[in-house]
Amino acid sequence: MIMSMPSSSPSLPLLMYLPLLLTLIFLTSTVNSLTNPSDVFALNAFKSTISPSSISPWSCLASWNFSSDPCATPRTTHFICGITCSADSTRVIAITLDPAGYSGPLSSLISNLSALNHLDLSENSFYGPIPPSISSISTLQTLILRSNSFSGGLPPSLSALYNLETLDISRNALAGFLPQTLASLSSLKVLDLSFNGFVGGIPKLPRNLGQLAMKGNYLSGALLETSFQGLNQLEVVELSSNKFRGVLKGWLFLLPSIQQIDLANNSLTSVEVGDAKATMSDLVAVDLGYNQIEGQLPVNFATYPSLSALSIRYNRLLGGIPWEYGKKWSLRRLFLDGNFLNGKVPDVFFSNGVSISGSFGDNCLVGCPRSQQLCGQKQKSASLCKRVYRKRPY
Ligand SMILES: *[C@@H]1O[C@H](CO)[C@@H](O)[C@H](O)[C@H]1NC(C)=O
Ligand SMILES: *[C@@H]1O[C@H](CO)[C@@H](O)[C@H](O)[C@H]1NC(C)=O
Ligand SMILES: *[C@@H]1O[C@H](CO)[C@@H](O)[C@H](O)[C@H]1NC(C)=O
Repeated sequence: MIMSMPSSSPSLPLLMYLPLLLTLIFLTSTVNSLTNPSDVFALNAFKSTISPSSISPWSCLASWNFSSDPCATPRTTHFICGITCSADSTRVIAITLDPAGYSGPLSSLISNLSALNHLDLSENSFYGPIPPSISSISTLQTLILRSNSFSGGLPPSLSALYNLETLDISRNALAGFLPQTLASLSSLKVLDLSFNGFVGGIPKLPRNLGQLAMKGNYLSGALLETSFQGLNQLEVVELSSNKFRGVLKGWLFLLPSIQQIDLANNSLTSVEVGDAKATMSDLVAVDLGYNQIEGQLPVNFATYPSLSALSIRYNRLLGGIPWEYGKKWSLRRLFLDGNFLNGKVPDVFFSNGVSISGSFGDNCLVGCPRSQQLCGQKQKSASLCKRVYRKRPY
Protein backbone atom coordinates (compact mmCIF):
# COMPACT_ATOMS: atom_id res chain seq x y z
CA MET A 1 0.00 0.00 0.00
CA ILE A 2 2.80 2.33 0.87
CA MET A 3 4.68 1.45 -2.30
CA SER A 4 1.64 2.23 -4.40
CA MET A 5 1.71 5.88 -3.33
CA PRO A 6 5.33 6.90 -3.82
CA SER A 7 4.57 10.54 -4.29
CA SER A 8 3.29 10.82 -0.72
CA SER A 9 6.77 10.08 0.61
CA PRO A 10 8.85 13.28 0.74
CA SER A 11 12.20 11.55 1.25
CA LEU A 12 12.46 9.94 -2.15
CA PRO A 13 12.44 13.04 -4.41
CA LEU A 14 14.86 14.81 -2.08
CA LEU A 15 17.30 11.93 -2.33
CA MET A 16 17.03 12.09 -6.10
CA TYR A 17 18.17 15.71 -6.06
CA LEU A 18 20.96 15.17 -3.56
CA PRO A 19 23.81 14.77 -6.08
CA LEU A 20 22.71 17.91 -7.86
CA LEU A 21 22.51 19.77 -4.56
CA LEU A 22 26.01 18.67 -3.57
CA THR A 23 27.41 19.74 -6.93
CA LEU A 24 25.77 23.14 -6.48
CA ILE A 25 27.22 23.64 -2.99
CA PHE A 26 30.63 22.57 -4.25
CA LEU A 27 30.46 24.92 -7.24
CA THR A 28 29.36 27.86 -5.10
CA SER A 29 32.17 27.39 -2.61
CA THR A 30 34.75 27.07 -5.39
CA VAL A 31 33.50 30.22 -7.10
CA ASN A 32 33.57 31.94 -3.72
CA SER A 33 37.34 31.70 -3.49
CA LEU A 34 38.23 32.47 -7.07
CA THR A 35 38.93 36.10 -7.70
CA ASN A 36 39.89 36.68 -11.32
CA PRO A 37 43.73 36.20 -11.43
CA SER A 38 44.20 39.45 -13.33
CA ASP A 39 42.43 41.31 -10.49
CA VAL A 40 44.60 39.64 -7.84
CA PHE A 41 47.71 40.50 -9.84
CA ALA A 42 46.59 44.14 -10.16
CA LEU A 43 45.71 44.50 -6.46
CA ASN A 44 49.11 43.13 -5.57
CA ALA A 45 50.84 45.52 -7.98
CA PHE A 46 48.75 48.41 -6.61
CA LYS A 47 49.82 47.67 -3.03
CA SER A 48 53.46 47.03 -3.90
CA THR A 49 54.14 50.60 -5.17
CA ILE A 50 52.89 52.09 -1.90
CA SER A 51 55.62 52.79 0.61
CA PRO A 52 55.37 50.09 3.34
CA SER A 53 56.25 52.63 6.00
CA SER A 54 53.09 54.59 5.08
CA ILE A 55 50.87 51.56 5.67
CA SER A 56 49.90 51.73 9.31
CA PRO A 57 48.95 48.45 11.07
CA TRP A 58 45.32 49.43 11.56
CA SER A 59 44.74 50.60 7.97
CA CYS A 60 42.77 48.85 5.25
CA LEU A 61 45.85 48.16 3.15
CA ALA A 62 47.58 46.43 6.06
CA SER A 63 44.85 43.78 5.88
CA TRP A 64 45.49 43.10 2.20
CA ASN A 65 47.32 39.79 2.70
CA PHE A 66 47.63 37.84 -0.53
CA SER A 67 47.89 34.48 1.19
CA SER A 68 44.07 34.74 1.08
CA ASP A 69 41.86 35.19 -1.94
CA PRO A 70 40.80 38.88 -1.93
CA CYS A 71 37.11 38.23 -2.61
CA ALA A 72 36.74 35.08 -0.48
CA THR A 73 34.12 35.53 2.22
CA PRO A 74 33.81 36.05 5.11
CA ARG A 75 36.55 38.69 5.14
CA THR A 76 37.30 38.89 8.85
CA THR A 77 41.10 39.03 8.98
CA HIS A 78 42.28 39.64 5.42
CA PHE A 79 40.99 42.26 2.94
CA ILE A 80 38.75 43.63 5.69
CA CYS A 81 38.23 46.92 3.89
CA GLY A 82 39.29 48.97 0.88
CA ILE A 83 37.79 46.70 -1.76
CA THR A 84 34.35 45.62 -2.89
CA CYS A 85 33.81 42.50 -4.98
CA SER A 86 31.04 41.57 -7.37
CA ALA A 87 28.13 39.51 -5.99
CA ASP A 88 29.64 36.29 -7.35
CA SER A 89 33.00 37.16 -5.71
CA THR A 90 34.94 36.89 -8.95
CA ARG A 91 35.71 40.53 -9.72
CA VAL A 92 36.93 43.56 -7.82
CA ILE A 93 34.45 46.32 -8.62
CA ALA A 94 35.51 49.08 -6.21
CA ILE A 95 38.57 50.34 -4.40
CA THR A 96 37.75 52.88 -1.71
CA LEU A 97 40.82 53.48 0.40
CA ASP A 98 40.70 54.91 3.88
CA PRO A 99 42.50 58.25 4.38
CA ALA A 100 45.38 56.62 6.24
CA GLY A 101 48.32 58.57 4.79
CA TYR A 102 49.31 56.06 2.10
CA SER A 103 52.21 57.38 0.08
CA GLY A 104 53.53 56.23 -3.27
CA PRO A 105 52.85 56.35 -6.99
CA LEU A 106 49.69 54.82 -8.45
CA SER A 107 50.69 51.65 -10.30
CA SER A 108 49.82 51.69 -14.00
CA LEU A 109 48.85 48.02 -13.55
CA ILE A 110 45.69 49.27 -11.81
CA SER A 111 44.25 49.03 -15.33
CA ASN A 112 44.24 45.23 -15.03
CA LEU A 113 41.21 45.66 -12.75
CA SER A 114 39.08 45.57 -15.85
CA ALA A 115 35.74 45.37 -14.00
CA LEU A 116 36.38 48.33 -11.69
CA ASN A 117 33.49 50.80 -11.31
CA HIS A 118 34.79 52.95 -8.53
CA LEU A 119 38.29 54.13 -7.58
CA ASP A 120 38.61 56.47 -4.60
CA LEU A 121 42.05 57.23 -3.16
CA SER A 122 41.12 60.60 -1.65
CA GLU A 123 42.91 62.28 1.28
CA ASN A 124 46.19 60.37 1.04
CA SER A 125 49.69 61.16 -0.23
CA PHE A 126 49.80 59.47 -3.62
CA TYR A 127 52.23 61.24 -5.94
CA GLY A 128 53.51 61.05 -9.51
CA PRO A 129 51.42 61.08 -12.66
CA ILE A 130 47.88 59.79 -13.09
CA PRO A 131 48.69 56.68 -15.16
CA PRO A 132 47.17 57.05 -18.65
CA SER A 133 46.44 53.30 -18.55
CA ILE A 134 43.44 54.11 -16.30
CA SER A 135 41.70 55.07 -19.54
CA SER A 136 41.41 51.40 -20.49
CA ILE A 137 39.14 50.60 -17.51
CA SER A 138 36.02 51.19 -19.56
CA THR A 139 33.72 50.19 -16.68
CA LEU A 140 34.93 53.06 -14.51
CA GLN A 141 32.09 55.33 -13.27
CA THR A 142 33.79 57.17 -10.42
CA LEU A 143 37.38 58.37 -10.19
CA ILE A 144 38.21 60.30 -7.03
CA LEU A 145 41.84 61.27 -6.41
CA ARG A 146 41.04 64.38 -4.32
CA SER A 147 43.63 65.70 -1.85
CA ASN A 148 46.77 63.84 -2.85
CA SER A 149 49.99 65.02 -4.50
CA PHE A 150 49.48 63.82 -8.06
CA SER A 151 51.46 65.87 -10.59
CA GLY A 152 51.78 66.12 -14.35
CA GLY A 153 48.86 66.76 -16.66
CA LEU A 154 45.38 65.39 -17.02
CA PRO A 155 45.96 62.51 -19.48
CA PRO A 156 44.04 63.25 -22.71
CA SER A 157 43.33 59.51 -22.98
CA LEU A 158 40.97 59.80 -19.98
CA SER A 159 38.37 61.02 -22.43
CA ALA A 160 37.96 57.36 -23.47
CA LEU A 161 36.13 56.69 -20.18
CA TYR A 162 32.66 56.98 -21.66
CA ASN A 163 31.02 55.53 -18.52
CA LEU A 164 32.67 57.97 -16.15
CA GLU A 165 30.11 59.99 -14.17
CA THR A 166 32.28 61.60 -11.49
CA LEU A 167 35.84 62.88 -11.89
CA ASP A 168 37.28 64.58 -8.82
CA ILE A 169 41.00 65.31 -8.94
CA SER A 170 40.82 68.47 -6.83
CA ARG A 171 43.60 69.49 -4.43
CA ASN A 172 46.59 67.94 -6.16
CA ALA A 173 49.62 69.41 -7.97
CA LEU A 174 48.34 68.78 -11.49
CA ALA A 175 49.19 71.34 -14.14
CA GLY A 176 49.19 72.16 -17.83
CA PHE A 177 46.41 72.78 -20.32
CA LEU A 178 43.10 70.94 -20.08
CA PRO A 179 42.72 68.37 -22.87
CA GLN A 180 40.56 69.41 -25.81
CA THR A 181 39.05 65.91 -25.73
CA LEU A 182 37.23 66.52 -22.42
CA ALA A 183 33.90 66.72 -24.23
CA SER A 184 34.07 63.00 -25.09
CA LEU A 185 33.29 62.11 -21.46
CA SER A 186 29.66 61.81 -22.46
CA SER A 187 28.42 60.36 -19.14
CA LEU A 188 30.23 62.85 -16.94
CA LYS A 189 27.96 64.67 -14.46
CA VAL A 190 30.44 65.95 -11.86
CA LEU A 191 33.83 67.43 -12.73
CA ASP A 192 36.06 68.89 -10.00
CA LEU A 193 39.56 70.08 -10.93
CA SER A 194 39.79 72.71 -8.17
CA PHE A 195 43.04 73.73 -6.47
CA ASN A 196 45.57 72.52 -9.00
CA GLY A 197 47.85 74.40 -11.37
CA PHE A 198 45.89 74.18 -14.61
CA VAL A 199 46.44 76.96 -17.15
CA GLY A 200 44.82 78.21 -20.35
CA GLY A 201 41.16 78.28 -21.27
CA ILE A 202 38.24 75.93 -20.69
CA PRO A 203 37.85 73.51 -23.61
CA LYS A 204 34.45 72.35 -24.83
CA LEU A 205 32.77 70.67 -21.84
CA PRO A 206 30.92 67.31 -21.75
CA ARG A 207 27.27 67.80 -22.58
CA ASN A 208 25.73 65.99 -19.59
CA LEU A 209 27.67 67.89 -16.97
CA GLY A 210 25.66 68.99 -13.92
CA GLN A 211 28.42 70.39 -11.71
CA LEU A 212 31.62 72.08 -12.79
CA ALA A 213 34.32 73.15 -10.31
CA MET A 214 37.70 74.52 -11.35
CA LYS A 215 38.39 76.88 -8.44
CA GLY A 216 41.90 77.95 -7.53
CA ASN A 217 43.81 77.29 -10.76
CA TYR A 218 45.50 79.66 -13.23
CA LEU A 219 42.85 79.39 -15.92
CA SER A 220 42.73 82.49 -18.09
CA GLY A 221 41.20 84.28 -21.02
CA ALA A 222 37.56 85.05 -21.60
CA LEU A 223 34.79 82.58 -20.76
CA LEU A 224 33.57 81.36 -24.10
CA GLU A 225 30.00 80.40 -24.88
CA THR A 226 31.32 77.63 -27.16
CA SER A 227 32.78 75.78 -24.14
CA PHE A 228 29.32 75.64 -22.52
CA GLN A 229 27.18 75.13 -25.62
CA GLY A 230 24.46 72.47 -25.23
CA LEU A 231 25.06 72.00 -21.50
CA ASN A 232 21.37 71.86 -20.69
CA GLN A 233 21.85 70.16 -17.32
CA LEU A 234 24.57 72.35 -15.89
CA GLU A 235 23.47 73.59 -12.45
CA VAL A 236 26.66 74.66 -10.69
CA VAL A 237 29.65 76.60 -12.05
CA GLU A 238 32.49 77.27 -9.61
CA LEU A 239 35.40 79.06 -11.26
CA SER A 240 36.56 81.40 -8.49
CA SER A 241 40.22 82.28 -7.93
CA ASN A 242 41.48 81.99 -11.49
CA LYS A 243 42.68 84.53 -14.05
CA PHE A 244 39.56 84.86 -16.19
CA ARG A 245 39.36 88.29 -17.75
CA GLY A 246 37.35 90.47 -20.07
CA VAL A 247 33.61 90.71 -20.52
CA LEU A 248 31.28 88.18 -18.94
CA LYS A 249 28.42 87.89 -21.39
CA GLY A 250 24.79 87.24 -20.52
CA TRP A 251 24.59 83.67 -21.88
CA LEU A 252 26.13 82.17 -18.71
CA PHE A 253 23.26 83.41 -16.53
CA LEU A 254 20.74 82.04 -19.04
CA LEU A 255 21.95 78.41 -19.29
CA PRO A 256 18.73 76.40 -18.96
CA SER A 257 19.43 74.62 -15.64
CA ILE A 258 21.87 77.01 -14.01
CA GLN A 259 21.46 77.61 -10.26
CA GLN A 260 24.82 78.78 -8.89
CA ILE A 261 27.63 80.78 -10.45
CA ASP A 262 30.83 81.59 -8.57
CA LEU A 263 33.37 83.67 -10.48
CA ALA A 264 34.79 85.53 -7.51
CA ASN A 265 38.46 86.52 -7.41
CA ASN A 266 39.17 86.72 -11.15
CA SER A 267 39.99 89.66 -13.42
CA LEU A 268 36.67 90.23 -15.17
CA THR A 269 36.23 93.81 -16.30
CA SER A 270 32.58 93.94 -17.21
CA VAL A 271 29.40 91.94 -16.94
CA GLU A 272 26.37 91.81 -19.20
CA VAL A 273 23.09 90.45 -17.84
CA GLY A 274 20.12 89.72 -20.04
CA ASP A 275 16.45 90.01 -19.11
CA ALA A 276 15.19 86.76 -17.53
CA LYS A 277 11.54 87.77 -17.11
CA ALA A 278 10.33 85.42 -19.84
CA THR A 279 12.47 82.49 -18.66
CA MET A 280 11.99 79.75 -16.08
CA SER A 281 15.43 80.55 -14.63
CA ASP A 282 16.38 78.69 -11.43
CA LEU A 283 19.41 80.90 -10.83
CA VAL A 284 19.75 81.22 -7.06
CA ALA A 285 23.24 82.53 -6.31
CA VAL A 286 25.79 84.67 -8.17
CA ASP A 287 29.21 85.65 -6.80
CA LEU A 288 31.26 88.11 -8.85
CA GLY A 289 33.17 89.60 -5.93
CA TYR A 290 36.85 90.57 -6.12
CA ASN A 291 37.07 91.23 -9.86
CA GLN A 292 37.67 94.50 -11.73
CA ILE A 293 34.16 94.98 -13.02
CA GLU A 294 33.43 98.51 -14.19
CA GLY A 295 30.24 100.23 -15.23
CA GLN A 296 26.93 100.26 -13.40
CA LEU A 297 25.10 97.54 -11.50
CA PRO A 298 23.16 95.37 -13.98
CA VAL A 299 19.49 96.13 -13.28
CA ASN A 300 18.53 92.88 -15.00
CA PHE A 301 19.65 90.77 -12.04
CA ALA A 302 16.30 91.83 -10.58
CA THR A 303 14.49 89.95 -13.37
CA TYR A 304 15.76 86.52 -12.24
CA PRO A 305 12.76 84.98 -10.45
CA SER A 306 14.68 82.83 -7.91
CA LEU A 307 17.79 84.93 -7.31
CA SER A 308 18.47 84.85 -3.59
CA ALA A 309 22.15 85.73 -3.13
CA LEU A 310 24.14 88.29 -5.14
CA SER A 311 27.67 89.48 -4.48
CA ILE A 312 29.55 91.97 -6.64
CA ARG A 313 31.65 93.25 -3.74
CA TYR A 314 35.10 94.74 -4.28
CA ASN A 315 34.88 95.73 -7.91
CA ARG A 316 34.90 99.16 -9.61
CA LEU A 317 31.20 99.79 -10.00
CA LEU A 318 29.88 103.32 -10.36
CA GLY A 319 26.41 104.83 -10.20
CA GLY A 320 23.46 104.07 -7.98
CA ILE A 321 21.89 100.97 -6.48
CA PRO A 322 18.77 100.13 -8.54
CA TRP A 323 15.54 100.29 -6.49
CA GLU A 324 14.51 97.13 -8.40
CA TYR A 325 16.92 95.11 -6.20
CA GLY A 326 15.02 96.26 -3.12
CA LYS A 327 11.70 95.24 -4.66
CA LYS A 328 12.98 91.77 -5.40
CA TRP A 329 11.22 89.45 -2.93
CA SER A 330 13.45 86.40 -3.51
CA LEU A 331 16.62 88.34 -2.60
CA ARG A 332 18.05 87.51 0.84
CA ARG A 333 21.76 88.40 0.63
CA LEU A 334 23.22 91.35 -1.27
CA PHE A 335 26.89 92.30 -1.05
CA LEU A 336 27.80 95.48 -2.93
CA ASP A 337 30.53 96.76 -0.59
CA GLY A 338 33.93 97.91 -1.82
CA ASN A 339 32.82 99.71 -4.99
CA PHE A 340 32.27 103.37 -5.93
CA LEU A 341 28.47 103.27 -5.90
CA ASN A 342 26.98 106.70 -5.30
CA GLY A 343 23.73 108.55 -4.87
CA LYS A 344 21.04 107.89 -2.30
CA VAL A 345 20.19 104.33 -1.28
CA PRO A 346 16.57 103.67 -2.34
CA ASP A 347 14.23 103.78 0.69
CA VAL A 348 12.71 100.46 -0.31
CA PHE A 349 15.69 98.64 1.25
CA PHE A 350 14.75 99.99 4.66
CA SER A 351 11.00 99.46 4.45
CA ASN A 352 9.12 96.96 6.57
CA GLY A 353 8.99 93.47 5.17
CA VAL A 354 12.27 93.71 3.28
CA SER A 355 14.70 91.27 4.85
CA ILE A 356 17.86 91.60 2.80
CA SER A 357 21.15 91.18 4.62
CA GLY A 358 24.60 91.96 3.27
CA SER A 359 26.63 95.13 2.92
CA PHE A 360 26.55 98.46 1.08
CA GLY A 361 29.62 99.78 2.92
CA ASP A 362 32.87 101.18 1.50
CA ASN A 363 31.13 103.00 -1.37
CA CYS A 364 30.22 106.63 -2.06
CA LEU A 365 26.62 106.31 -0.97
CA VAL A 366 24.45 108.79 0.91
CA GLY A 367 21.27 108.05 2.84
CA CYS A 368 22.74 104.85 4.18
CA PRO A 369 22.17 105.11 7.96
CA ARG A 370 24.75 103.21 10.00
CA SER A 371 21.87 101.91 12.14
CA GLN A 372 20.72 99.78 9.22
CA GLN A 373 22.48 96.39 8.97
CA LEU A 374 23.21 96.93 5.25
CA CYS A 375 24.93 100.22 6.07
CA GLY A 376 26.87 99.21 9.19
CA GLN A 377 30.23 99.56 7.47
CA LYS A 378 31.31 103.13 6.72
CA GLN A 379 31.52 104.76 3.27
CA LYS A 380 34.65 105.92 1.42
CA SER A 381 35.98 109.38 2.17
CA ALA A 382 34.28 112.28 0.42
CA SER A 383 37.56 113.40 -1.15
CA LEU A 384 38.21 110.00 -2.72
CA CYS A 385 34.65 109.85 -4.07
CA LYS A 386 34.94 113.37 -5.49
CA ARG A 387 38.16 112.44 -7.27
CA VAL A 388 36.60 109.32 -8.83
CA TYR A 389 33.47 111.10 -10.03
CA ARG A 390 35.28 114.14 -11.39
CA LYS A 391 36.83 111.84 -14.00
CA ARG A 392 33.72 109.79 -14.74
CA PRO A 393 30.40 111.63 -14.42
CA TYR A 394 27.39 109.42 -13.63
C1 LIG B 1 47.35 42.99 -17.45
O1 LIG B 1 46.79 43.67 -18.53
C2 LIG B 1 47.54 43.58 -19.71
C3 LIG B 1 46.89 44.50 -20.74
O2 LIG B 1 45.50 44.30 -20.78
C4 LIG B 1 47.61 42.16 -20.17
O3 LIG B 1 48.38 42.07 -21.33
C5 LIG B 1 48.25 41.34 -19.07
O4 LIG B 1 48.24 39.97 -19.43
C6 LIG B 1 47.50 41.51 -17.77
N1 LIG B 1 48.24 40.85 -16.71
C7 LIG B 1 47.72 39.88 -15.96
C8 LIG B 1 48.63 39.25 -14.98
O5 LIG B 1 46.55 39.55 -16.03
C1 LIG C 1 49.43 36.81 5.89
O1 LIG C 1 48.61 35.87 6.52
C2 LIG C 1 49.28 34.68 6.88
C3 LIG C 1 48.25 33.69 7.37
O2 LIG C 1 47.26 34.30 8.14
C4 LIG C 1 50.37 35.00 7.88
O3 LIG C 1 51.06 33.83 8.22
C5 LIG C 1 51.32 36.01 7.28
O4 LIG C 1 52.27 36.41 8.24
C6 LIG C 1 50.57 37.22 6.78
N1 LIG C 1 51.48 38.07 6.07
C7 LIG C 1 51.62 39.36 6.35
C8 LIG C 1 52.59 40.11 5.49
O5 LIG C 1 50.99 39.89 7.24
C1 LIG D 1 42.37 84.74 -5.04
O1 LIG D 1 43.04 83.91 -5.96
C2 LIG D 1 44.41 83.71 -5.71
C3 LIG D 1 44.95 82.83 -6.81
O2 LIG D 1 44.46 83.22 -8.05
C4 LIG D 1 44.58 83.07 -4.35
O3 LIG D 1 45.95 82.95 -4.06
C5 LIG D 1 43.90 83.91 -3.28
O4 LIG D 1 43.94 83.24 -2.04
C6 LIG D 1 42.45 84.13 -3.65
N1 LIG D 1 41.82 85.02 -2.70
C7 LIG D 1 40.61 84.75 -2.19
C8 LIG D 1 40.06 85.79 -1.26
O5 LIG D 1 39.97 83.75 -2.47
